[in-house]
Amino acid sequence: MSKDSIPQQFIEQLSQSIQNDTFVQLTLSKVGGKDKSLKNVYARLIELKSNPAITFTLRYPTKDITKNHSIEEGIAMISLWLGNDFLEGNLFTLKEDVSIQYNKKRKARLFTRPASKQKQPDKQHNKIKQYAIAPDAPYLYAMGISSKQGKILAQNQRKYRQINKYIEIIDSLLNQHNGLSHTPHIVDMGSGKGYLTFALYQHLKEGLGWSPTIMGIELREQLVGFCNKLSTEIGYSGLSFAAQDIHDYQPERIDLLIALHACDIATDIAIAKGIQAEAEIIIVAPCCHKQIRKEMNCQTDMQAILKHGIMEERQAEMITDGIRSLLLEAHGYETKVFEFISTQHTPKNVMIVGIKGKKNEKAIQQINAIKEQFGIEHHYLETLL
Ligand SMILES: C[S@@+](CC[C@H](N)C(=O)[O-])C[C@H]1O[C@@H](n2cnc3c(N)ncnc32)[C@H](O)[C@@H]1O
Repeated sequence: MSKDSIPQQFIEQLSQSIQNDTFVQLTLSKVGGKDKSLKNVYARLIELKSNPAITFTLRYPTKDITKNHSIEEGIAMISLWLGNDFLEGNLFTLKEDVSIQYNKKRKARLFTRPASKQKQPDKQHNKIKQYAIAPDAPYLYAMGISSKQGKILAQNQRKYRQINKYIEIIDSLLNQHNGLSHTPHIVDMGSGKGYLTFALYQHLKEGLGWSPTIMGIELREQLVGFCNKLSTEIGYSGLSFAAQDIHDYQPERIDLLIALHACDIATDIAIAKGIQAEAEIIIVAPCCHKQIRKEMNCQTDMQAILKHGIMEERQAEMITDGIRSLLLEAHGYETKVFEFISTQHTPKNVMIVGIKGKKNEKAIQQINAIKEQFGIEHHYLETLL
């Protein structure tokens, strides 16, 4: 058989497995094209309005996107991806597992192994949750986000989407970094009313079947009292809250640190606590940025731009968060900085994620150069480390 026919052979086996109803799932991996942002594709079958369809999960570094296509369209897309965007395809059927692998010269080889999966996933489309957090979650009602009947109130739709978006991001990060145990100790610093803390607990415990313990740290005693009462009432035994300044909090262990919308230097305190506790993952979404703006004393040509207040404000935000991520890198974290929710929902939408990994040996040098350029004496986070 000529090598050129191997991709067709793979696609033929895929089509046959769908026709014979032995198809289980397909994965595409080993990014091969110019666009490296799409990391993996997962395909499975679903029923859409009584018609069979292929549902794709497209995995990007910080999100998953789901797309449904007719069988014909789906197979055509897989043919296009293979050998171009992805250099490996794995087809799982009830009869056998088939892999296609391309070498550097894009020559394909086919491997067949006994079937590793004995069961097909459920094809019911309505079994796929639109949202990780269902609208009838008990805490959403207690927090005034949904009605007693479990419907999200009109004025809270945005908040509800934001909660789900946040869970989707954390889920995707956990998928990419499997170093976290399934019994993680998580600390949420500046947990506020606890929407996101409750949702994360529910997702890990009920969605993923993990046994997490989550501690929310919050200055406002009234909120802490409310959250502790609620977690007891709904039986979330691993979720508790403490009324404390995060500055004074001395963690024994943190596996995952979260600080969302913590004001100004509270984000720095949270990052420092995470680094000191050697947290596996640190996730922060900074709120207001005051410290660096007050410090900035730029004497370079940039001053011609920074004389405009709004430009100075944006520049200060960028430097504040940029140096935060470089300090994480200096302490052995690999970082991602990205917009996590549309500015339409909130202007405070930058998320900084640090995942334990390779240290950036040049980070301190890079920070010093930036500080010099903008006339900055110190970044508050530096003083904590
Ligand atoms: C804007 S809210 C965010 C709440 C929640 N993380 C969210 O994203 O929905 C910030 C919270 O951090 C709390 N906070 C600010 N500084 C703090 C500190 N030093 N220690 C503990 N909590 C703090 C505030 O009281 C407030 O409830």
